[in-house]
Amino acid sequence: MKNNKYISIENLKFRYSGQNDFRLNIENCEIVRDNILGIYGLAGSGKTTLGKLIAGMLTPESGSVFYRENGIDSSISGKNIIYSMQFPENIFLGITIYETVEKLVKNHEKGSEIEIDLQTYLKFFDVDYDLIKKRNGYELSSGELRRFALCLSLACSPDLLILDEPTIALGQKGKRQLQNLILDLTKKQQVVIISHDFELLRECCDYFWIIDNGEIVFKGKIPQIRNNIELLKRTGLIYYF
Ligand SMILES: Nc1ncnc2c1ncn2[C@@H]1O[C@H](COP(=O)(O)OP(=O)(O)OP(=O)(O)O)[C@@H](O)[C@H]1O
Ligand SMILES: [Mg+2]
Repeated sequence: MKNNKYISIENLKFRYSGQNDFRLNIENCEIVRDNILGIYGLAGSGKTTLGKLIAGMLTPESGSVFYRENGIDSSISGKNIIYSMQFPENIFLGITIYETVEKLVKNHEKGSEIEIDLQTYLKFFDVDYDLIKKRNGYELSSGELRRFALCLSLACSPDLLILDEPTIALGQKGKRQLQNLILDLTKKQQVVIISHDFELLRECCDYFWIIDNGEIVFKGKIPQIRNNIELLKRTGLIYYF
């Protein structure tokens, strides 16, 4: 049966503690295996917040995110979901690239295969692992760090990979390489891409959620977006059509 595995979101409400300006309010929706979902929205609309909630990195005020397989619901906490963050700079500083990889190798079920896969993915981006591995995160350029973070996420072979603004610091060539990689990847893994770069989403995704001011204001495909002039204007998508 198709579509028998999915992530389900039910009446998710969230706000950052001590901050009343922004609220996320997501009504019932599902991320199905057969779609490559792109989440688009303007800066500050709530994309990263939603991505972290889906990955279980933030706790909602109410509502839930869970995994449903063959009609049976389970918590997402035991699932292999990786959120590849918008600002990898925050996590890879103060320790060498090799030490970061070693830590992961020790704690991940794939073990040393992670390092092998990491090298394969890095080659795809023309980055030499042997050259960067002795360096600290802050000794890499932002483009190298971004590529490393992406490749490390890929090497973990998650069931669901959430890429948050993956093209930041990549440049046009890196963006093309990433697009090809994502298209290849989606044949075997479920991928969700979060971005305000609709060009990337259009290349890689076949289903879209548009988020505005903490709410999903649209779910659907390209022709429906194109025909919705009010939506195009409100969300800045008018520049892409
Ligand atoms: N840790 C935090 N504490 C308080 N407020 C936050 C925090 N992180 C984000 N916000 C606020 O929550 C709102 C949504 O932020 P979020 O990062 O989810 O937006 P975004 O759509 O990912 O934006 P961008 O396109 O700039 O990445 C913004 O108003 C932001 O200022
Ligand atoms: Mg963001």
